Amino acid sequence: MRRTEVIAHRGSKGTHPENTLPAFEEALKAGSDGIELDVQLSGDQELVVIHDETVDRTSDGHGLVGEFTLQELKTLDAGSWFASEYAFSRIPSLQEVFDLLNSYQYTGVLNIEFKTNKYPYPGIEEKVMELVCRQNWPFAIEYSSFNYQTLRRVKKLDQSNKIALLFEQSEGAIEILDNRFLVTMWHPKLTWLREISESNVPKIPTRPWTVNHSHDLDYCFSKRTYGVITDYPAKALAIREKWQS
Ligand code: G3P
Ligand code: MG
Repeated sequence: MRRTEVIAHRGSKGTHPENTLPAFEEALKAGSDGIELDVQLSGDQELVVIHDETVDRTSDGHGLVGEFTLQELKTLDAGSWFASEYAFSRIPSLQEVFDLLNSYQYTGVLNIEFKTNKYPYPGIEEKVMELVCRQNWPFAIEYSSFNYQTLRRVKKLDQSNKIALLFEQSEGAIEILDNRFLVTMWHPKLTWLREISESNVPKIPTRPWTVNHSHDLDYCFSKRTYGVITDYPAKALAIREKWQS
């Protein structure tokens, strides 16, 4: 029987500075089945991996991601805010994350989330596709976004692209999920998944986020959700052993 996939959220966000190479490396070493990251565009149109639209929370800089060139972003310390031992961590480009995954001969899932809900970053979908097409790798890519227009563009660029729909609330979810040609996976907020009745859970592969507490991990593994998206991949993998060894 297939086991619930453990997807490492922003790398291993709970134990390392999110969306940095050390966080992704930790997720790889833990043996995660998948890795999730967030992508945006720098001011000089480079693909960079960062969650917030500003650099303030996760670096020693201030301002919008889109106001920095890649070179300027690279001068920022993206690790000290988390712990002093990560002072040399930098905001990675998407290519750098690809290179890291390749260096580990990673064969799992890579979930690329387009952070286009506040700033649409025109052309970002094409840029990611171009970069993906230039790689030669064995891992599977899936795309997600809270911005439905981004997902439509990604699908239009290549019908075979796999789409994971992110959903925070129930409103409109079912209508979108009915549109199966677009969505292959469903990534709902865990609290919502736990609130709705089981008969209303869409019958497509579901990976809730963010599943961090032991009791929530127990819940998902006992229900055998398709996957879990977690800040603690090593912990989740250990708990999965208990339920699905
Ligand atoms: O993929 C799940 C999760 O990443 C969505 O929310 O804000 O952490 O990017 P966020
Ligand atoms: Mg994300």
